[in-house]
Amino acid sequence: MPGFEIFGAEERKEVNDVLDTGVLFRYGFDAARNGHWKAKTFEQELAARMGVAHCHLCSSGTAALSVALAACGIGAGDEVIIPPFTFVATFEAVLTAGAIPVFAEIDETLCLDPADIQARISPRTKAVMVVHMCGAMARIDDIKSLCDQKGLILIEDACQSVGASFRGKPLGTFGQMGCFSFDPVKTITCGEGGAVITDDSDRFALAHAYADHGHDHIGDDRGAEDHPVLGYNFRISELNAAVGVAQLRKLDAILGTQREHKALIRAAMQRFPQISFRCLPDPEGDSATFLSFMLPDEAQARRTARALNDAGVDGCFYWYDNNWHYLRQWHHLKKMMAAAKLPAQVYAGCPDYAKVRLPKSDGIMARTICMLIKLSWQPEDIQERIAKIEQVLSKP
Ligand SMILES: Cc1ncc(COP(=O)(O)O)c(C=O)c1O
Repeated sequence: MPGFEIFGAEERKEVNDVLDTGVLFRYGFDAARNGHWKAKTFEQELAARMGVAHCHLCSSGTAALSVALAACGIGAGDEVIIPPFTFVATFEAVLTAGAIPVFAEIDETLCLDPADIQARISPRTKAVMVVHMCGAMARIDDIKSLCDQKGLILIEDACQSVGASFRGKPLGTFGQMGCFSFDPVKTITCGEGGAVITDDSDRFALAHAYADHGHDHIGDDRGAEDHPVLGYNFRISELNAAVGVAQLRKLDAILGTQREHKALIRAAMQRFPQISFRCLPDPEGDSATFLSFMLPDEAQARRTARALNDAGVDGCFYWYDNNWHYLRQWHHLKKMMAAAKLPAQVYAGCPDYAKVRLPKSDGIMARTICMLIKLSWQPEDIQERIAKIEQVLSKP
């Protein structure tokens, strides 16, 4: 994803503001920092962009997931329903919280299938962590209604989908908390960083405290601050936040370019009868970071992914074989190869992840290819790319 493609004078200026003061910490040092509060600025601007009351920056998207789980009161023994197509951070964060990941099927949105979420709810289910994969939305209205109806917490992992929306409402604002990542391969980056957003003041206060050793952040003497909760260090540095400030201001321009590039390639591909596209519950809200499409069967998908790669069409991911993004290859999870015993391993009822079977998700992922959309493509690059794609898809 493109944040790294556009690092420029704006990012350098924000970073230099911080370097000039030498204050790399996001709290305190009021006199020395010369008015620069990069983390606070990023938080205010991201909250305004998302139309929510609160935002708290974290050291990564993974940290944001951990903070959201803690702030939503999810911990030891709670079941959290998650998708099998995501990034490893999803189950890592749930396991680290002491909770138990329960997998549900995805559908052709490439995100959780609301009907299968319902089928997986047990008396121990506390939350659903929906992941808006590859730049676009899950069936978030149905999932939200289901969670409301069943009294479940909804956490949105929008780490791959910053700037995307559903019917005009930003992804990340439907559940109790939304999470973003700004790692080096996200739509906007700050090197390493993440954020949680929410309208709930109590959850925000808990998130803010939990991400900084439980500090209450009251007063101007950090050493004298109280600790309303036990916490951890998931803080972001001012240097990272500074890059993020500049990148966030470019978000809408990034989305505009991605959407133009994607539309051209999609239009060229849709005349090929063997291609169908990922279901988008609201195509207008797609951030257009990826063009995800399906072939009729696994053999054709594998053949097409190989041929696109051989033809020099870069960034075409066949996630079914990928070690990071799909359950099939998560052998370390299936064998529970933890560095130390996990809480989930001492609870009765922890699933045997080696035995989890998700035939519907396998059927979809085996047929799916996701093509990266880049910002830096010039019109002639896109035409050349389309010509290569057409050549590959024209072959029987
Ligand atoms: C869906 C999803 N969730 C969470 C993360 C974790 O983000 P980070 O790399 O910032 O920890 C990622 C990163 O790839 C992701 O794709």
